[in-house]
Amino acid sequence: MTYMDNSPYVMCEDLFKIYKIADLEVVALRGLDLAVQNGEVVAIVGASGSGKSTLLNILAGYDAPSAGRVSVGGKDLLQMSSREVEEYRRIDVGFIWQQTSRNMFPYLTAMENVTLPMMLTNTPGKERSERARDLLELVGLGHRLDHTPEKLSGGEQQRVAIAVALANKPPLLLADEPTGELDDATAAEILDLFGSVNQDMGTTILIVTHDPDIAYKVGRVVMIRDGKMSTEIRRKVTFERIQSEADTDATLEEFVLVDASGRIQIPQDYLDQIKIGERARVQIENGTVTLRPEE
Ligand SMILES: Nc1ncnc2c1ncn2[C@@H]1O[C@H](COP(=O)(O)OP(=O)(O)OP(=O)(O)O)[C@@H](O)[C@H]1O
Ligand SMILES: [Mg+2]
Repeated sequence: MTYMDNSPYVMCEDLFKIYKIADLEVVALRGLDLAVQNGEVVAIVGASGSGKSTLLNILAGYDAPSAGRVSVGGKDLLQMSSREVEEYRRIDVGFIWQQTSRNMFPYLTAMENVTLPMMLTNTPGKERSERARDLLELVGLGHRLDHTPEKLSGGEQQRVAIAVALANKPPLLLADEPTGELDDATAAEILDLFGSVNQDMGTTILIVTHDPDIAYKVGRVVMIRDGKMSTEIRRKVTFERIQSEADTDATLEEFVLVDASGRIQIPQDYLDQIKIGERARVQIENGTVTLRPEE
């Protein structure tokens, strides 16, 4: 493995994803860049259809980009054989789908659902059941081991989903709107749980969310717009841990992201305010770049 501690754990460079349906092409990702450090928690926000799930699916090895580079933990996802990709999915990533029903087998109990991924990695039987029990206790479901999904609430099912995703102790956890179907209180508990997982296991976490307060709860939020990262919000002071309670005292800094070709996205309302249409004048003066309307 070529992965080194100081290089980003997740690296996406100039990613493109084009879906083709008959004669129609949909560009879901258009030159997306993203770097996430080992042990970092990053929230991804963006409008419906902006490419969030497409990005997560690529990082999970479920889908391949049309162009660009993507590596996780020093592994180039595009150079892997299909066998290596399968192994990567089992060992290196935990994935939580937005639709609760997709995360569990309906006819298996919570214990069996968490045990299953470990069977695929040939974990010995005793270790499997011990770890499944530990994980279900970690997510607060020690008393629901023998329940099948239909006998669990939505929040409980998402907790099992987290335990399933963590079964093989993956260094990377990808969660696609894991709290989308939950009420606020349960969503808060799930977010706290991500915080413990990040702290206790050092797991790098990427979480897609619609939570409007997310910037006050995690270290970094990236905004995806039309298949490309546009802005980023960071905490000014050192961020302690992901938590459900919004730390509204935290000072946030918002940045516009500049890609490798020097392209940036200017928020539409700024463009509207200064009446910039298709072209603008760009000038540099005293270390400041100004953007002006044509005339
Ligand atoms: N399998 C597919 N075939 C064709 N087009 C697709 C496919 N999956 C996604 N798309 C299109 O790609 C774009 C990005 O979709 P994606 O699911 O990544 O968006 P999203 O940001 O996750 O949206 P949401 O918040 O609604 O989940 C959309 O325009 C979508 O219609
Ligand atoms: Mg989605």
